[in-house]
Parts: sequence; C-alpha cells; structure tokens
Amino acid sequence: MADHAPHSATPESFEVRILRQDGPGQPSYWERHRVNYEPDMNVISVLQKIAARPVTADGKKVTPVAWDCNCLEEVCGACTMVVNGRVRQSCSAIVDRLLEEQPDGIELQPMTKFPVIRDLMVDRSRLFRALTKIQGWVGVDGYYDLGPGPKQSQAAQELRYPLSECMSCGCCLDACPQYGKIELEQREGESEADFERRKSAAYDRSFIGAHAISQVVYFNADPIGKMTAANRLDALTAEGGIQVCGNAQNCVAVCPKSIPLTTSIARAGRAATIHRIKRFFDR
Ligand code: SF4
Ligand code: SF4
Ligand code: FES
Repeated sequence: MADHAPHSATPESFEVRILRQDGPGQPSYWERHRVNYEPDMNVISVLQKIAARPVTADGKKVTPVAWDCNCLEEVCGACTMVVNGRVRQSCSAIVDRLLEEQPDGIELQPMTKFPVIRDLMVDRSRLFRALTKIQGWVGVDGYYDLGPGPKQSQAAQELRYPLSECMSCGCCLDACPQYGKIELEQREGESEADFERRKSAAYDRSFIGAHAISQVVYFNADPIGKMTAANRLDALTAEGGIQVCGNAQNCVAVCPKSIPLTTSIARAGRAATIHRIKRFFDR
C-alpha cells in the first residue's frame, strides 16, 4: 500500500458522495453519507463503515452500497473504481491523502467503461475476453512433470518482469479515449449461452486495449510462448487490434503498476507491421 502522511487538520467526520445504481441498465443517482474519521482509513474501510450503518447524511435508511474487493493490497484489481475523479484501487486509496486532494469530501463512482452490476461493482469480463483473444497464456502439452523450463536471458527477464505485474485492473482501459463502453441487454427469449456468445463477439470486434497489447509482448517474449506468437499477432492485427490505438498515452499515466504501456505499444506496433508484411508474402 502507498505510504501516507496524516491529514494536517484532522476532521471529526467527512462527507462521502457515492454514485449509486440499483442494477444493470438502471438510472444512476448520487447519495451523500457522513463517516466518522479514524486514522489510517482507506476507501474500503469507509465503505465497510457505510455498510455497517447504511444511513445517508440526511438520516435516510438505504440499502448498503455494493462494491468489490479481494486482496486488499493492490494486487487483484477487483476494487478498482473512480475515486475523486481518478480511476484507481480503493484499497490503496488512503483517506488522509484523499482529503488533502479534495477537502470537501470523497467522491466514489464505478468505472466508466464497464457495465455496472450494482453501485460500485462493474462487470470486467470484456477485459478478460481480450486476454482470451490474444491467447494470454503459455501452452502446455500435458500436466506431467517436464522438469524446469528453458532459461531466460537477463535482457528477456528485464523486459518481461514489469509486464508480468499487470493485475487486469482496467485503469488503462477506463482512461483510454479509444476504449468505448459496450452495454448489451439480454433479448427476450435469448438463452444465457446465446447472450454470452453475442457479448463475446461484440467484445472481440471492439478495441482490445493497452493491457492486452502489453500481454502480447509479454507472452511473445516467453521461450515457449514464442511458438504461438503468430496467433497473438493475428489477434493484435485483427478488428479492434493495435491499429485502433490513437497513442494518447492516457493508459500509461494511470497504470498503478507503472507498466511501460507505451513502450509495449511501440514494440507491439513494430511486431504487427512485420507480421502483416509476412502474412502478405505468405499468401
Ligand atoms: S496510447 Fe492507445 S491504449 Fe493508451 S490510452 Fe492512448 S489510445 Fe488508449
Ligand atoms: S496495464 Fe496497468 S492499468 Fe492496465 S490492467 Fe494492467 S495493471 Fe491495470
Ligand atoms: S482489493 Fe485487490 S487490488 Fe484492491
């Protein structure tokens, strides 16, 4: 978690404004809560306090606010939301710092590019679908013991280690101007399986995003991953691929793991160009 200094003029309590939504496709609305200050609070502990006493600042009883979290140490990405206007992890968003940034209170909103399930919980399946599309894994022939894998050079390790830190949080996607929101409703009479297929097809046509581009670089630099590099480059150059990136570089500015996304995008861009030329002459 990030280190932090105590807020200079510690308040007795502070306001928390939350953009709520009762379910998918429902209208959203702001709600104000008042939370008693305690030292060393993060946004998750603020939400826990609200859940323990779900009453608004003007005394109205409400349903508890829904949110997602898991690791509580900025490694799973599940708690990502827009805090004081910036997309980040709520487990490492420290109240003292937030009140320094914005003394009149804390503002919480769900991520803007993913369908809202309820309140601050969003459906990030599109993000994982992009990782499936680019084959973000190293293939295996079986699960029997094959002994140690091939050695990797120092240079390869230095390239790959920072990229391995991606936690699929979605910050880079939420900040990207090329990454549009896709919200599909299940049609009347449409089976769950058909709806999932239609969603996957829509996701596959849309921009894969900086995280997936970076994972192509990561897996294509793996000694075993290299064997299926062409498949990843096919996905990278397909509809919704790297050509959609406008190079605005918002992604790298918000990545909590400081992943060199623009370097990955440049590397992937070069690999995609060579791949397209090869495919042209292979025809
Ligand atoms: S550099 Fe590309 S991926 Fe990153 S924010 Fe800009 S358009 Fe999106
Ligand atoms: S690249 Fe960074 S911002 Fe994007 S999903 Fe991975 S950790 Fe999150
Ligand atoms: S709960 Fe895992 S990153 Fe915040």
